Amino acid sequence: WGPLGHSVVAELAQRQLSPAAEREVERLLAPEHTTHLADVANWPDQVRNDPALRALWKRTSRWHYINFSSDRCHYVAPRDCPKGECVVAALAREVQVLGDRSQPDAVRREALKFVVHLVGDVHQPLHAGYRPDRGGNQYQVQFEGKGSNLHKVWDSGLLGTRHLRWRDYANLLDSRSPVTLPRPIAPLDNPYAQWAEESCRLTAAMDFYPSRRRIGSAYVDRNLPLAERRLRVAGRRLAEVLNRHLGDVVTQH
Ligand code: ADE
Ligand code: ZN
Ligand code: ZN
Repeated sequence: WGPLGHSVVAELAQRQLSPAAEREVERLLAPEHTTHLADVANWPDQVRNDPALRALWKRTSRWHYINFSSDRCHYVAPRDCPKGECVVAALAREVQVLGDRSQPDAVRREALKFVVHLVGDVHQPLHAGYRPDRGGNQYQVQFEGKGSNLHKVWDSGLLGTRHLRWRDYANLLDSRSPVTLPRPIAPLDNPYAQWAEESCRLTAAMDFYPSRRRIGSAYVDRNLPLAERRLRVAGRRLAEVLNRHLGDVVTQH
């Protein structure tokens, strides 16, 4: 997602935090001079344009996505996530760091920013696609009268048609009836792989890739609800992750 999508996911999640998790989030965020996860949710993308953080981007740029090898969208770690360099493995690692009280706060703060961001990205269907087109970046389209690509349309184009800022967008989504989470599928032991497989299956569905290269209102009307549903599912799941790993009751899973 672009900045708007990441902030909406973060805000939806923060509104569902337990008091203990909310306290720990605010404590970790204090040096960032904000209490809102929405304000730091896009940071792992911003390091890309910061000369001082270029090394961090080089080390983490593959953490934002996964490329499946076929439209069967079945996760096989050694094949689909070589050396743990994909969103599924990166999420698992960063969640562990975040929940590890023996780590310095600065390390856990960076992990928090990655967890917030990567739970968003793994729910953007084209961050877990299967075609050899760099997640739709190489699928050129026309959108709002300009040259674009399908990845950009999904990161920001569809959501941008609302002309809302993150707080108002979160209010809009929260005003709807509760979202139902997708039915769990294998592998139940790796929820992050499951979330990526869901995204991949969405990109494999008929008409996800538009047959006409000019994207018009029919594509937006059909896919904006899907994009918004992914934001809501991501927000709910992010809250569950943070409540589990930052709440004071430590339980398994
Ligand atoms: N670069 C290569 N594959 C990508 C993907 N699926 N999403 C974003 N960037 C990518
Ligand atoms: Zn993207
Ligand atoms: Zn990203």
